[in-house]
Amino acid sequence: MAENMIPLRIAGVGYSLPETVVTNDDLTKLYETSDEWIYTRTGIKERRVCSGSEDAIELGFKAAQNALEKSGIKPEELDLIIAASSAPPQLYPAIACHIQARLGIETDIPAFDITAACSGLIYGLQVAKGFINSGIYKNILIVATDNNTRYLDWSDRGTSILFGDGAGAMVVTVAEDGVDDVLAIDIKAKGAIGEYIYKDNVGQNCPLAEPCPEHDGFIHMNGKEVYKFVVKILPPYIEEIIEQAGLKAEDIEYLIPHQANLRIIQAVQERLQYSDEKVITNIKYYGNTSAASVPIALAEGVEKGTVKLGKDTKAILCGFGAGMTWGAAIVRLREGIC
Ligand code: UT7
Repeated sequence: MAENMIPLRIAGVGYSLPETVVTNDDLTKLYETSDEWIYTRTGIKERRVCSGSEDAIELGFKAAQNALEKSGIKPEELDLIIAASSAPPQLYPAIACHIQARLGIETDIPAFDITAACSGLIYGLQVAKGFINSGIYKNILIVATDNNTRYLDWSDRGTSILFGDGAGAMVVTVAEDGVDDVLAIDIKAKGAIGEYIYKDNVGQNCPLAEPCPEHDGFIHMNGKEVYKFVVKILPPYIEEIIEQAGLKAEDIEYLIPHQANLRIIQAVQERLQYSDEKVITNIKYYGNTSAASVPIALAEGVEKGTVKLGKDTKAILCGFGAGMTWGAAIVRLREGIC
């Protein structure tokens, strides 16, 4: 980090999950599949899904409250809200604006959403880091919230088995002790293969112009191509980010990856030669919660004692998804953040 940059502290992390559980066995009521097929290919046994009026705003708001509580920073002390989501109930107002209102913030702080799918938390952290390092803002709330189950084609068994709903949030602030909690961070995108995962907005052209092609508004995924691409690029990419931080794999306590497919996580784990205890997974119970999966895994890991916070505990966070986007960060996890 350049000398004149202001260091960032991760102050609080929180999460929220809907109550409704859908198991693999439940899915057999929708199409021909089996618990065995889904579990062996993905590591998923069940997922949480939004029900009734629950949505990404509601989940994100609860996760934000949770993270703010842990951080000791009051909503009115925030300078910026960034929400990362690929399943907003409305394109506008942004989820971040809804959350600003739900938190009762009356100071007109900026609030905006970013669309980086399952890399959303890492993208959000990179944006927040820029604002903090440069001294533009001090206290920033990042909310990663997704409700993809509302936009799935529930007759598409290749895609709908994978996703669940949830939200995670992170509060970052200025590190008064001068120690930056982000040791390295990087984000990437390759728009040329964007067709691997996409969701069209539904709309129509002006009636006086030629009609546009019809779209279904569902999430479409070429799972095989996504899998091949990610398994190829992710392990060496993680090694690069570790090197960028000036560390070796063994210097880092935990890998807290995006929970998309257990076999993808295992490919990274093997490359880093990490024991199971170092790799935090909860895909079995929540499936792929998109942008939310990294902060949920982190906060729940701390809650369950599988992630032990310390003075200098370090973790690799990484995400990948539609765009295609991907990103990774090496972060310091101080005591009391969740
Ligand atoms: O965060 C977003 C990032 N997304 C990902 O990381 C997704 C990565 N990809 C994957 O996880 C895997 O591609 C899936 C788990 C989604 C699918 O596994 P796959 O091994 O790539 O399956 P496939 O789509 O190639 O299908 C293989 C076979 C097909 O049958 P045939 O054509 O070989 O007879 C499918 O019809 O399995 C069939 N199939 C199923 N069978 C039972 C597909 N879905 C199912 C199902 N149950 N749910």
